[in-house]
Amino acid sequence: MVKDDDLKGAIRSGATTAPEIADHIGKSDSATRRRLKKADDDAQSKLVRERNPRGSGYIYAIADEDQEADSEMPVFGDRDYDWSQYVPRAGATAEYVETNGELSDIESIIEHRHDTGQLPRFRLTGPPGTGKTTLARYIGAMRQWPVIPVQFTAAMRDSELFGSPHIIGGESVWVDGPLVKALLCSQERPVVVVLDEINRAPFHRKASLQSFLDHRAQATLMLRGGEKIEGDPENLITVATMNEGTEYETFPIDPAERRRHGNTWDVPFLGLVDADLEAELVADNTPVSIDVARVLVRAANEVRELAVADRTSPVENGIATSIVLEWARTTVAYRQSNRSDPLTRAAKTAILRPHYSGRAAEEAEAVIHDTVRS
Ligand SMILES: Nc1ncnc2c1ncn2[C@@H]1O[C@H](COP(=O)(O)OP(=O)(O)O)[C@@H](O)[C@H]1O
Ligand SMILES: [Mg+2]
Repeated sequence: MVKDDDLKGAIRSGATTAPEIADHIGKSDSATRRRLKKADDDAQSKLVRERNPRGSGYIYAIADEDQEADSEMPVFGDRDYDWSQYVPRAGATAEYVETNGELSDIESIIEHRHDTGQLPRFRLTGPPGTGKTTLARYIGAMRQWPVIPVQFTAAMRDSELFGSPHIIGGESVWVDGPLVKALLCSQERPVVVVLDEINRAPFHRKASLQSFLDHRAQATLMLRGGEKIEGDPENLITVATMNEGTEYETFPIDPAERRRHGNTWDVPFLGLVDADLEAELVADNTPVSIDVARVLVRAANEVRELAVADRTSPVENGIATSIVLEWARTTVAYRQSNRSDPLTRAAKTAILRPHYSGRAAEEAEAVIHDTVRS
């Protein structure tokens, strides 16, 4: 019989993979593996696993090891939150330009959720820079609902989601994390939680999201002696975003988790759906004229076509709207200081150098030059 304490002892001694742990405790690989999986599935256990970034299989760790449970610990500010402080100020959030009906779809689901009984869980996928984060915040901003953003990272700990003890004035004080605040807020009013770039966090950090996202709308604070925080699932509007592309490391997301994040929209490059609309967005948000904006969007679309439709091209990533905006602003700066060829110079420093390399850079550059000159 393999015991949890032995597993933890092995991990504390430096074993990370199942065979290493088995070796350390002198049990069989298969028995050890079964017990490890069980411990990982058990929300009460602090033993967690994630995919081994340097090989196949999993590695194991102990979450928030150094902290002891204490139900007597006072809560910072006594949970006397002023939710109006979380409502985006007018003008502080960019207006989202709808690409493919995604905003209208989400609005209908939110509006009719009480009749349909559907949980307001949404997921946005697509290349970086297509406005997913902007859309998520805009959903709250347009209704003047509080917005609580959570940026996921590879090194993220559960305490960054749910809260952790801090030493304040020599005393241990519990500070609520963003998800606990969201649950508390949802008891009173609708709140939008932006789970941004959720696929940058390893799987185990997200396992703890389960009861938060499903009909329970609940979090259990182990370090406060198992305190349960319950929200109103219909008032808890969650928008998870997932950047897709080859540009940085992400973790796979399993079907059960995908399901919990709800209806999903792929947010494509705006210009490929409506070039005029993207040109207007660029002209509205930067000092370039609508005519220049149109040229930029046309060039961006040529590169996007290579990335999206041409399988023989080395160009794998298209030019996102955010990059077109950078290109526009850089062009204006170069033009105002009379740099030669401001448009193509700006293409080099704002698009090609930061986002492309090798043959992809050459091909993207050629396409941009052809379009700009024509
Ligand atoms: N459809 C859009 N509507 C409004 N702004 C957009 C749109 N697409 C991109 N942007 C702008 O581009 C920048 C990057 O957008 P962001 O929301 O961070 O993209 P993502 O989250 O998809 O990476 C922001 O300044 C945003 O205002
Ligand atoms: Mg984003």
